[in-house]
Amino acid sequence: MLCVNVLFFIFLIRFSKGELEDICHENNEIESSDLSILISPLMSSEMIREISIYWKNSHLKNGDVFKLYKGDPNTTEAQVIYTFKPDAIHGYKKTGMSSDFISTSQLSFRDECLKYYVSWVRNDTIKKTSCLSTHPNWMAKRKKTLGHLKMREVFIPGTHDSAAYNKFQNFRTELIIDKYTITQDEDVLAQLIYGARYLDIRVGRYPNSDEIFWGNHGPIRIVPLRDVIRDVKLFLDNTNEIVIFDIQEFPVGFKSLAAHYQLTDYLLEQFDGYYLDRPVNVWGTSLEDIWSTGKRLIISYDYSNIVASRSSVWPQVEQQWGNVRTVNALYRHLNKIETQAADESYHFNRLSQPRAAMAQLTPTTMDVIFNRLGGLRKMAENVDINITEWYSDEWQHTANIVAVDFIKATGIVETAIKWNDKRASGC
Ligand SMILES: *[C@@H]1O[C@H](CO)[C@@H](O)[C@H](O)[C@H]1NC(C)=O
Ligand SMILES: *[C@@H]1O[C@H](CO)[C@@H](O)[C@H](O)[C@H]1NC(C)=O
Ligand SMILES: *[C@@H]1O[C@H](CO)[C@@H](O)[C@H](O)[C@H]1NC(C)=O
Repeated sequence: MLCVNVLFFIFLIRFSKGELEDICHENNEIESSDLSILISPLMSSEMIREISIYWKNSHLKNGDVFKLYKGDPNTTEAQVIYTFKPDAIHGYKKTGMSSDFISTSQLSFRDECLKYYVSWVRNDTIKKTSCLSTHPNWMAKRKKTLGHLKMREVFIPGTHDSAAYNKFQNFRTELIIDKYTITQDEDVLAQLIYGARYLDIRVGRYPNSDEIFWGNHGPIRIVPLRDVIRDVKLFLDNTNEIVIFDIQEFPVGFKSLAAHYQLTDYLLEQFDGYYLDRPVNVWGTSLEDIWSTGKRLIISYDYSNIVASRSSVWPQVEQQWGNVRTVNALYRHLNKIETQAADESYHFNRLSQPRAAMAQLTPTTMDVIFNRLGGLRKMAENVDINITEWYSDEWQHTANIVAVDFIKATGIVETAIKWNDKRASGC
């Protein structure tokens, strides 16, 4: 009997493996090639929002070109604004073209392409097109395949220091302090619409100011927390997505426990009707179970005293910092945590606490004082390309939350979506 069962089991595995092969091994040259549009966070008086093209395509032939269009190449309005011949199967090309400013009010709650398209063209025939895109519904669209998973098991794009944004329409000279505090060039609503579902929120408390709570980066206050809360609510009102609002670090004004109570009371009042009370299984709760409650906001808090005394608040996401200053050191840090995560999957993870790979370089105080690394924009540009590639090719199976600076400079959202689909197919 046992023997028959084992045989049957082996048969099942073999059978399902055969079925999966097509999805997992992309034989198809279109599916297996990567092509995307990235927007550089750098700005100068000559250039802002420079468009780059990233590709990885082993099927390229001599004579193939990439064309960048303004407008959908399927329509007559499309205008070729840049063309080049790739000289390697894999690369990253700055185009010298600046992308238009797109205000958040121009974004919709539908997944859409925004003005810019890139095509792989052979002999005047388009083989593949990608666009600069938004993903306000990626999670809800995958309810069937993601529903049984816990947050810990999903590949989730996030932003680092989400409230430290400044959305410039035109070039501005940044003070040294801005150079080292601004981590995002989209406001929180736009970050969510572009696809982030994990928000890393640092709060400063200023009891003597009109606005008491602020989104901070270290000691510097950037935007009133009220604006961030408004954006999150607007997003939740217009989508069926789940958002993690992770309160981390309390750089100013939190010496007393009373200050923390004041913040949690404020959050619970502002987000009344939106947040999900911490369930019995806490992070062990599946996405399906979260959806079934009708509440899609998780407020997590990096202070155990508060979690112990407020039943609505969830324990924080574990942020995994490398505190590194070079691309190579960042690679080693991320490789270490993703390797650990791969090992953990053989053990039972009792708490299922999600973890956020903090995928950015961290300047030291001296780096800031002497502006040695050129600011966070430059630092992000140096690593954002690599992050996408690493998380597409090496750590796609283990990735949980990946929190980045300047989200449009990475392809992390598309990478996460693609690998959630592949993982669901057993790849
Ligand atoms: C362009 O048209 C083709 C064929 O009609 C279609 O498969 C493709 O998805 C379209 N591309 C875009 C970017 O709309
Ligand atoms: C390009 O198209 C022309 C005309 O259809 C054809 O003769 C030629 O072989 C094609 N070249 C390549 C590289 O496919
Ligand atoms: C980062 O990406 C650049 C550009 O593709 C590449 O030249 C470099 O080798 C990468 N660095 C690492 C550590 O992977």
